[in-house]
Order: sequence, then structure tokens, then C-alpha cells
Amino acid sequence: MKKQWWHGKVAYQIYPKSFYDSNGDGIGDIRGIIEKLDYLKDLGIDIIWISPIYQSPFVDQGYDISDYYKIDPAFGTMEDFDELLREAKKREISILMDLVINHCSDQHEWFQKALADPEGEYGQYFYFEKGKNGKEPSNYRSYFGGSAWEKVPGTDLYYLHLFAKEQPDLNWENKKVREELFRMINWWLDKGLAGFRIDAIINIKKTDSFPDYEPDGDDGLVRCTRMVEEAEGIGELLQELRRETFQRHDAFSVGEVFNMKEGELEEFIGDEGHFSTMFDFAPLEATLGGHGWYDAPEYDFYKWRSALTASQLTCQGIGFLANIIENHDEPRGASTYLPAYAQGDDGTKMLATVSILLRGLPFLYQGQEIGMKNCRMESMEEYDDIDTKNQYKMAINAGLCVEEAMDVCFKHSRDNARTPMQWNAGKNAGFTSGRPWLKVNPNYTEINVEKEERDASSVLSYYKELLALRKSEAYREVFTYGDFIPAYDGQEKIIAYHRKDKDKDILVAANFGEGETALHEGNRGKILLKNREDVRIEKGGLVLPSCGVAVVEC
Ligand code: GLC
Ligand code: CA
Repeated sequence: MKKQWWHGKVAYQIYPKSFYDSNGDGIGDIRGIIEKLDYLKDLGIDIIWISPIYQSPFVDQGYDISDYYKIDPAFGTMEDFDELLREAKKREISILMDLVINHCSDQHEWFQKALADPEGEYGQYFYFEKGKNGKEPSNYRSYFGGSAWEKVPGTDLYYLHLFAKEQPDLNWENKKVREELFRMINWWLDKGLAGFRIDAIINIKKTDSFPDYEPDGDDGLVRCTRMVEEAEGIGELLQELRRETFQRHDAFSVGEVFNMKEGELEEFIGDEGHFSTMFDFAPLEATLGGHGWYDAPEYDFYKWRSALTASQLTCQGIGFLANIIENHDEPRGASTYLPAYAQGDDGTKMLATVSILLRGLPFLYQGQEIGMKNCRMESMEEYDDIDTKNQYKMAINAGLCVEEAMDVCFKHSRDNARTPMQWNAGKNAGFTSGRPWLKVNPNYTEINVEKEERDASSVLSYYKELLALRKSEAYREVFTYGDFIPAYDGQEKIIAYHRKDKDKDILVAANFGEGETALHEGNRGKILLKNREDVRIEKGGLVLPSCGVAVVEC
């Protein structure tokens, strides 16, 4: 594998609306990010990914872009952004923007022109199709519910939107569209961006026609991914994207890729792959239901462990995955991947250790480093997220009562991760002096940065040690390039693995069970890091109490 500048780095995702509000309007902003750069530097962060800050009507929180060349005034100005780039550079922090190019906003000039004249030049920028027998061109269900086709008033045409109807899909088969997008990407890279996180990218390739498929729900529709999975030839589009943009700038790219075809990993993240890396969603997928959040299975440790291990083994020798515990589309990891008895600080630290020391690029999500948790909302009015509203409806339609449906949202809502960052125990958790755009999790008096910075045994202090260990002179090489070798997978409620190269052999072992366990061969070695005093090496081996984790040099 070719060595790359980003190998061995640690990344952090900022959800800007909820990170830090510098001017009291209740919305996090770019100047707020600038103010917190030292905090991130101190934590051990090298790369920041900022969720969309482009001009947007915010139907899907900025993932609906109406002008790719403008910063939305809610976040500040282009001058603020340039200052952010300069200030980050001073601290040797690289900045990634979010690249949302499968679709744009229906308010984008291209779409407005297309609507005015669907047969004209801009109509070709999107997918306009004639209806069939007075109905939609095909029976696809959009990701956010309902048909993926929206009728253009006064015509027999429909346009395709795999996400909300305010997010029309761009036609990547049109060379002009690709050229426009590449020009825009290069414009940002020329400014000094280090690269991009690439949104929903697997969806850009459609089938030649739009065939109907067997419905998979009572609504007579079928999930639109059926069509996406059938589409052939995305590789050519992605290679062109890489060649025309990222490659020219030695830029970093991380893809949001679901539904990749079997055996294509090397094409995606190998040395000449479409992207530098892509997120590993396998652990998340192990928690998803067949139809929606409402029929998600209970969290299963063994399913989670197998998913994680399988991803690690598959990408070995091919490339790196980007490892996450959570992001802005998922509930909090400390609420999802830990059984009830493990949802204290020890459990949170244990989960962090297992994830951060995997082979790959760790991406922290804001608040993860202080152990932020899911937030209970009192009623649907307190939710903002478009997907939560849709999933709530689905749950009710499936026969759940209001209380049950609210509980489903509490477990799965994307807003769980979007509540404001908890900076201190003061008003609004120190996030804003005004009225926060989304409810602050009431647990902020217990879980917040200021408190944890003063406490050497806090989750935050532990994260700093963990990242420092991963990046230390002595261990950076093995944690970056060392093999991943699963261990003790026959042992109940244990997840353990070695990171090993020709010089070093490190064992990472965690006990997700309720009782104490000993790992026999761990009896020789030095503990580099542990989350509890009573994690120890005895004659019989490495002793792990419930929720104990150790990093042992063997
Ligand atoms: C990605 C984003 C998500 C957004 C969707 C549509 O999955 O992460 O937040 O809703 O794409 O752009
Ligand atoms: Ca603000």
C-alpha cells in the first residue's frame, strides 16, 4: 500500500449548527468553530470534517444546497471561512467540507431553470420522466418516505428525488453537470481545503430505464436502493471525479457508501481507488430493521462484534476504512452499542478504545469525546429531523402507539446526535447565549467539556490519552499499519484483537459482559492503557472486570 499524508491522522466531524454559537442567534457558526480550534488541537485532532455550510433552505439541514459557491449566512461569511482555513492551518489542522453532489436543492438556480423549461438545457441536469398510465414513472420509495417521483404541475412529467422532494437528483450522465461539479470542487480545493466527505455518492448511478420492482411494503412501493443496486458502471463516473479533482490536489476523500457491490472494495479504496477511504457502516447496519426504525432488532453484542471484525479483515491488504461510533445520521454510540449496565463512563471509555485502535482512520463525532448520549424529547414537536418525522409516521402506521413510536425515535432519531454540544454546566450548556435551535440534552450538567477538563478520570481526559497513545512516536506505526488479528472470539462478551507488525504486538481487549473475566495469554506484557484501576495482569492472565478494557504490549 502506498503511504499517504493522511495515514495515522485522527479526524473529527463537526455538525456546525450544533457546535458553538458565537453570536447568540441560537445556531452554531464558523466563528464558533474558530473559537474551539484550540480545544480540538488539544484533544488530538488533525482533520476536521464540517457538515454542509453552503447556502441552503435547510429542508434536510444543509444537505440541500442552493448555491455551492456561497456560505449560508446562518453560518457566517466567506471571509469567516477563509479565516477558519488560516487558523486551522496555523494549528496544522486540515479542513474537509461535505460534498453533496447526488442532488441539490430545488431552490438551486439549475432546478429553477429546469422547472421553467423541462425540455430545455437545464431539464437535462435532472431526471424528468413522463408518467406511466397517469401514475409515477416507477414505484420507488424515497429514502425519506413516499414516492421518489414528484409531479411537475401542469405537465405529464415527474422529476426524480431519492431523498426529499426538495432534493432533486442531478443527472450525472450529462457531461455538463459533471463539468460544473468538478469546477466547483476544484474551486474549493484551490482555496486550501484538504478534501471532502462525499455524501450519498453511491446514488449517482441510475439504471438506463427506471423499471418497476416487486413492492416491499403496504404502500405498493419498493425502496429506491433496489434500482441503485442494479445500476452498473458507477466506477467510471467515480474515477473521472477523482482524476478531474481530488487527484490533482492530492486531496483526501472519504465516501459515504452504502450498498457497494460485493468485491468492489479495492476499486473504492485501493491504491488507485475512487476514494482515500470510506466509512465502515457495518456495525451500524447490524442494528437496522428490515422496514424502518420501528422493527429494528435489539442490540446484539455478537452481531456487532462479527460485523466489526469482518470489515476489518476484508479491508486488510486493500486499504483503510474510516471507523466511527456515531455521526449526524445515527443515534449516540454510547446509547446504542452498550448494554444498559455498561452505559456509564467505563463503558463509554471501553467502546472508545475498541473503536479508536482499529486499523483505519478514526472519525470522532462532536460530543462523542465527552460521552454525549441520546436525548429524550417530550413530543414530536421537539424533533426537527425530516427522517425522524417520516419514521415516526411509519411506526404509527405499523400499529405502534404514540408512546412506543416516541420510544423508537428516542432510540434511533438522527436528532439524538444533533442536540447542541455541551460545553459547560451554564445556561444552554454554554452552546449559545440565545435560544438554541434544537433542545439541549438535560444531562448537560453532568456531561460537559468544562467539568470533564478538570477531572483526570473523565471520558474526555481518557479520550486525550487514547488519541495520544495512538499517535505517539513509539506506537503510531503499529496502530496505523499493523495488522488486525482478532482474538478470543470464542470467549463470551469479549471483543479483543491484536495490532501487530514486525516490531510490536499490541493486544486490545474489552469485556462487555457483567462479570469479571481473565484472558489467559495476556499474562505477559505491559498495560499501556486501561479504563479502570482493577484491570490488571495476574498469574492467570489479564483480568478484565465488567466494562474493563486494556491495551497491552505483549
Ligand atoms: C447523507 C447525509 C444525510 C442526508 C442525506 C441526503 O446520508 O449524511 O444527513 O440526509 O445524505 O443528503
Ligand atoms: Ca450563530
